[in-house]
Amino acid sequence: MHNIEITDLKKLTQMVKDAYGYDFTNYAMSSFRRRVNRILELYNFTSVSNLIDKIKVQPAFVEEVVNEITVNVTEMFRDPSFWREVRDHIIPNILLNHKSINVWHAGCSSGEEVFSMAILLREMGISDKVKLIATDLDNSILNKAKKATIPIKNMELNEKNYIRFQGSASLSKYYKEQNGHAVLNPALVENVSFRKHDLVQGGIFNKFDLVLCRNVMIYFNQNLQNDVLKKLHESLFKYGYLIIGSKESLIWCEIANKFIVVNNEEKIYKKIRE
Ligand SMILES: C[S@@+](CC[C@H](N)C(=O)[O-])C[C@H]1O[C@@H](n2cnc3c(N)ncnc32)[C@H](O)[C@@H]1O
Repeated sequence: MHNIEITDLKKLTQMVKDAYGYDFTNYAMSSFRRRVNRILELYNFTSVSNLIDKIKVQPAFVEEVVNEITVNVTEMFRDPSFWREVRDHIIPNILLNHKSINVWHAGCSSGEEVFSMAILLREMGISDKVKLIATDLDNSILNKAKKATIPIKNMELNEKNYIRFQGSASLSKYYKEQNGHAVLNPALVENVSFRKHDLVQGGIFNKFDLVLCRNVMIYFNQNLQNDVLKKLHESLFKYGYLIIGSKESLIWCEIANKFIVVNNEEKIYKKIRE
């Protein structure tokens, strides 16, 4: 365990921001420090200065740093009761007034959330009515998502979640096992658009009926959560839905009064004001 000073972390974030455009300035300090510590241990750096030097001389290394700093943990059908709510209430509600639906998965990690949505839509028989866009800051995790393969050791938990979601088939129907991986049926994700997008530095790029940004802002400080929530609000059509992670909340943020709570347990909100 290294004793990392705040001034070291500031030097690192400033350098990465100036040279590569990634801005970690407002990431929550304690988890950010833990992640930097992990990088020092993983690559045998003796200090943050060492790490900074390496990033300077080897620009490609910054992608590994980004991959280590961001937490990519995800599951298919994570929080199954939430997915039931999406299937049984949210999507049917949107379809009352729309022939097609635009969905944005912001911070999609290796894609499990998007794969779950694709399966849910297929089981509802409405895949052709929904356009899915999935974005993440981290290039290497996004490349994994595009391959739509999941280590087979993760499938036991995914299967458990799917059963609790009360899907209409068996999860094994949607993938083939190959070299220790579950390879998803390509037809499931052929219409998903995976793109790099930075919630901190990036702008508004489309309008959506449903935005999922789950377990992403938990790593941001309050100021950054406010800024990002403004962008998510702007990216929604009026009466569109915003869904965040189970441990996250809108209550304290500046734009809270522009949403109503649809389901407090599942952290589902509806935009009611521009
Ligand atoms: C814990 S995962 C959440 C995955 C999925 N949404 C879920 O709930 O299972 C958090 C993701 O947010 C991404 N992320 C972190 N900072 C980001 C940023 N500034 N812009 C876009 N994505 C970001 C990370 O790369 C990571 O893949």
